[in-house]
Amino acid sequence: MAQNWTADSWRAYEGRHLPTYPDAEKLNGVEKTLTSFPPLVFAGEARALKADLAQVAAGKGFLLQGGDCAESFAEFHPNNIRDTFRVLLQMAVVLTFASKQPVVKVGRMAGQFAKPRSSPVEKIGDVELPSYLGDNINGIEFTPESRIPDPERMLRAYSQAAATLNLLRAFSTGGYANLRQVHQWTLDHIGKSPWATKFAETADKIGEALDFMEACGVDPRTVPQLQGTSFYTSHEALLLQYEEAMTRQDSLTGEWYDTSAHMLWIGDRTRFEGSAHVEYLRGVNNPIGMKCGPSLTPDALLRMLDTLNPGREPGRMTLISRFGHDKVEAGLAPLVRAVKREGHPVVWSCDPMHGNVIKADNGYKTRPFDRILTEVKGFFAVHRSEGTHAGGIHIEMTGRDVTECTGGAVAITQEGLADRYHTHCDPRLNAAQSIELAFLLAEALNAERAEAKSEAA
Ligand code: PEP
Ligand code: CO
Repeated sequence: MAQNWTADSWRAYEGRHLPTYPDAEKLNGVEKTLTSFPPLVFAGEARALKADLAQVAAGKGFLLQGGDCAESFAEFHPNNIRDTFRVLLQMAVVLTFASKQPVVKVGRMAGQFAKPRSSPVEKIGDVELPSYLGDNINGIEFTPESRIPDPERMLRAYSQAAATLNLLRAFSTGGYANLRQVHQWTLDHIGKSPWATKFAETADKIGEALDFMEACGVDPRTVPQLQGTSFYTSHEALLLQYEEAMTRQDSLTGEWYDTSAHMLWIGDRTRFEGSAHVEYLRGVNNPIGMKCGPSLTPDALLRMLDTLNPGREPGRMTLISRFGHDKVEAGLAPLVRAVKREGHPVVWSCDPMHGNVIKADNGYKTRPFDRILTEVKGFFAVHRSEGTHAGGIHIEMTGRDVTECTGGAVAITQEGLADRYHTHCDPRLNAAQSIELAFLLAEALNAERAEAKSEAA
C-alpha cells in the first residue's frame, strides 16, 4: 500500500485547476453526503480492467478509450449514451477483426465532467467572467451567477454518472452488445460514408464466422464472450474534492480505490512533481492514465512512474501521448526509449486530439481530421522503430452526427462547422469519422502484426 497516503493527503500539495468554492459549509455538506453514497464501481472490476491492461502492456491487446471531451447535464439523454456506446462497439469490432487481438473498451463516460482550462477567465466583448470549468463545477452560460462554483453540482454529476453507468452495464451485458447484432449497430447517418459499406462487409464476415462456429457445434448463444462485452468507464481525476469523497477501502483486500470510475487519468496540466493530483492518484489502486505532452522530459516521466507505480505492476499505468501531428515523432521517441530502458511495464496509448486544436477562420475551435490521422501514423511509426507495442487510442468522439472536426470522408468544411457544433468543450469526432479512424488503426495494427510474424519466422 502507498506510504504516508490518505484520501485527503493531496490537500497539502499544490492543486492546479481546482475551483475555489465560496461557500465552504455547503461544500463540506456535499462532500459528507457523497462519502455516504454507494460506490459507482467495484474494486474487483477495477482489478479486472487492470488485468486486461496488463495483457495490452505485454503486447497482447489494444486499448480503445473514447467519449465526450466534457459530458454535460444538457446532453444527458439515453440516445446519446447509446450512440456513443454503439460507435465504440463498432470501432472495437473493426479493430478486433483486423488485429485478431482483444480490444479493451473504456468510455470517457459516466463521470467526465471537470475541465482544466487554458485561461481562468473568459472575455466576450468588454465582459470578463471566470471560465466554465465543467458541469460538475459551474455553468456554461455566460453570466456571473452561473460561473460561481456550486458544490451541489457534484451531486447531480454523481446521479448522472450512476444512471449512465447503469445503462452502459445494461447495454454491455443485456443483449445489445451480442455479436449477432453487429449489423443492427449501424447508425442511419453514417450511411452517407463510404466506411459504412466497409463496416457492413466486416459485419458480414463476422456473421459467416458465427454461422461456421454454429455448424461446428459451438452454439454462439451459449458462449458468454459472444453474448456481451466488458465495458469500463474513465474520466480525468481533476475535481479532487469529488474523487476524495468517492474513495473507498475494498473490504476484500484492504486497498483503496477511487470508486467514481474504473480508470482515472491525470491531465497534461496536472502531472508535475509536487502535484495534488499525482499525490491523490498514487494511493488508489485503480488503473491510472497519464497524459504525456511536449513539456514532459524522459527523466520527469521516469520519476512519475516511480511515484505512481513503484511496484511496477503491469496494467497500472497507461501513458497517453498527445504531442500534435508535427511533434509526435521527435517528442515521443525519447520517452518510449527511456521507459523501455528502465523496464517499466506500461500501455502506450495515443491521444491524437489535444495536440491538434486550431481556430477556424470563423472562430470555431476545431481539429482537422488529417492532422489526427497524421499523429496516429507518427505514433505507430515511433513504436515500430523502437520495437514497442502501439497499445491504444484515446479519442474525443460522439455517436451523434456533429460537425466539430473538419475533414473526413464525408468532408466537413470550416464553413460547415456551424451546422451542428454542440460540444461543451473540445471538438469531437463524429460517428463516421470515428469509424474511418478505426479502419486506419486496423490497417496499422495489421502491419505491426505482420512485422512481428515475419521477425518470428
Ligand atoms: C482532455 O483529455 O480533455 C484534456 C484536457 O487533455 P490534456 O490533459 O491532454 O490536455
Ligand atoms: Co478535451
